[in-house]
Amino acid sequence: MRTLKVALGARSYPIHIGDRLLERGDLILPYLKAPLAAIVSNETVAPLYLPGLAGALRAAGVQVTEIVLPDGEQYKNWQTLNRIFDALLESRCERATTIIALGGGVIGDLAGFAAATYQRGVPFIQVPTTLLAQVDSSVGGKTGINHPLGKNMVGAFWQPRLVLADTDTLRTLPERELRAGLAEVIKYGLIRDLPFFSWLEGNMERLRAREPDALTHAVERSCASKAEVVAADETESGVRALLNLGHTFGHAIEAGLGYGEWLHGEAVAAGTVMAMELSRRLGWLGEADLARTVSLFERAGLPTQGPALGADRYLELMALDKKVAAGKLRLILLEAIGRGVIRGDVPAAEIRAAIEACCRG
Ligand code: NAD
Ligand code: GLY
Repeated sequence: MRTLKVALGARSYPIHIGDRLLERGDLILPYLKAPLAAIVSNETVAPLYLPGLAGALRAAGVQVTEIVLPDGEQYKNWQTLNRIFDALLESRCERATTIIALGGGVIGDLAGFAAATYQRGVPFIQVPTTLLAQVDSSVGGKTGINHPLGKNMVGAFWQPRLVLADTDTLRTLPERELRAGLAEVIKYGLIRDLPFFSWLEGNMERLRAREPDALTHAVERSCASKAEVVAADETESGVRALLNLGHTFGHAIEAGLGYGEWLHGEAVAAGTVMAMELSRRLGWLGEADLARTVSLFERAGLPTQGPALGADRYLELMALDKKVAAGKLRLILLEAIGRGVIRGDVPAAEIRAAIEACCRG
């Protein structure tokens, strides 16, 4: 097992990464405030992993409430959040109850927001079971739900006390979900880690084949990057925005098509190509870096062109982005592979041209 730390003073927490950690009650126990836990999962993940996790906790004397939600991005909303509150209240969960998210980013975001708000905040633990959740969403404390008018528009920062990334769970992940997770892995190389980007170029087939060593390395290196960025800027007043490379375009794709149509990672991949095409048009990024990235996304089995929503629709949806400040869109662009920048002064005509150049049809 490898352990990294997210350094946030009194709210610092470990990320344990390794094989078969899920059933290690001893790793979780020290982070419970009381022997009371509510595990939030979904109908897909629960049959696979809930008995192991709940069993380990019960064997250690913990009283466990199980909350199983429907599966899908389209359920990351108020109605589902309320189902969590209903279950917590019906089971008389109290302030000392720790909410444990067992699943991908959707469950992590929902359960985390429930933890941030139930009885004005209860302890929270992340047990991520998708590649995307292990490399990104389980670390850093962003929680929330979607609004019909915008992705992740309602939420809170609420850090977990522990992240337990059991890489063994990735064996059952559908192929398309694995690929979606690779988009966020590639992101770290693009924004701040050229050597990791080069490693990914040399190891993409091993990752696609789920070789444990390769997956563990990718999770560890990604979490190390995420932990550093979050420690430097917990609430995204600066450098953390870099983690949103491709996301402003990507969120427009997700909302424009309807949540769940394209996976988040797929939308991020196509959105990243748009951001890089924009960087190229502005004269910062070389053609070769763009081609190199498109090739890596293709080898990861990810889309490199967005759906034909029309540039007007993209721009309308992008105007709802959380990075909009004083009415101006702020975008994450690249000066080179490994060097992301935040810019608020990009002419709208250039954004439009980049979208048009990177859409199907
Ligand atoms: P997801 O949670 O929908 O999981 C993907 C699918 O895999 C689901 O059907 C799920 O049931 C299934 N699944 C999960 N683990 C499995 C396993 N081990 N075996 C078999 N099936 C499994 O999607 P995701 O890609 O994990 O997360 C995407 C969400 O994360 C989006 O809502 C996105 O906005 C959010 N996100 C949040 C942050 C953050 O910082 N909070 C960062 C990135 C993304
Ligand atoms: N996924 C972006 C962030 O955590 O800031």
